[in-house]
Amino acid sequence: MGAEDNKKRAARAALEYLGDSRIVGVGTGSTVNHFIEALRSIRGRLDGAVSSSEASTQRLKALGIPVLDLNAAGELPLYVDGADEANRHLQLIKGGGGALTREKIVAAVSKRFVCVVDDSKLVQVLGGFPLTVAVIPMARSYVARELVKLGGRPDWRSGFTTDNGNAILDVHGLRILDPPALEAEISQITGVVSVGIFARRPADMLLVGYTDRVEKIDR
Ligand code: A5P
Repeated sequence: MGAEDNKKRAARAALEYLGDSRIVGVGTGSTVNHFIEALRSIRGRLDGAVSSSEASTQRLKALGIPVLDLNAAGELPLYVDGADEANRHLQLIKGGGGALTREKIVAAVSKRFVCVVDDSKLVQVLGGFPLTVAVIPMARSYVARELVKLGGRPDWRSGFTTDNGNAILDVHGLRILDPPALEAEISQITGVVSVGIFARRPADMLLVGYTDRVEKIDR
């Protein structure tokens, strides 16, 4: 239960950053699910949310929170999402749930990205958690060969298709010492839709949940 409680503590702390905003961007995963649950108490103040996945959309709708089309919503004041790994430069690995492409889009159009994690996610060097890469299905083997050239061991997430119809490669064995550079390099491989390094647009604030507190790390 420890990690779950710590996720909840971090997720609830993110509510504070909503301020007067009537729209919020919502990520995906077990930590964000606690944030969605926390929105229940203030849902009357919201016009709606922009969601990064079908899974989060279902949860928001179940609470009666309207889910808005990003194209109509414009710039979002706040985006709240989890991560698989985070460092103290607020660079992240995301995509363990396969929702990275929409997550990256929502992060890009948000003024402030608050990332919520439990303390087990905080690392010195990114890459211990396999790096997720979303690819056009027909390019899967080609992209995998290119990732091997970069020193990784890509594994096809067999039987899994993203919300946008893409395949996922989970890349093991990378020690990501220069996250923005590797993000750019992998993004440029033909057939890659998105890479789970969030370093060119990192988080603006990291809320780390511990058993007895929430640590705030900002830029
Ligand atoms: C979803 O694709 C991911 O980016 C999640 O944000 C990430 O995996 C964190 O998930 P948990 O909060 O479930 O650990």
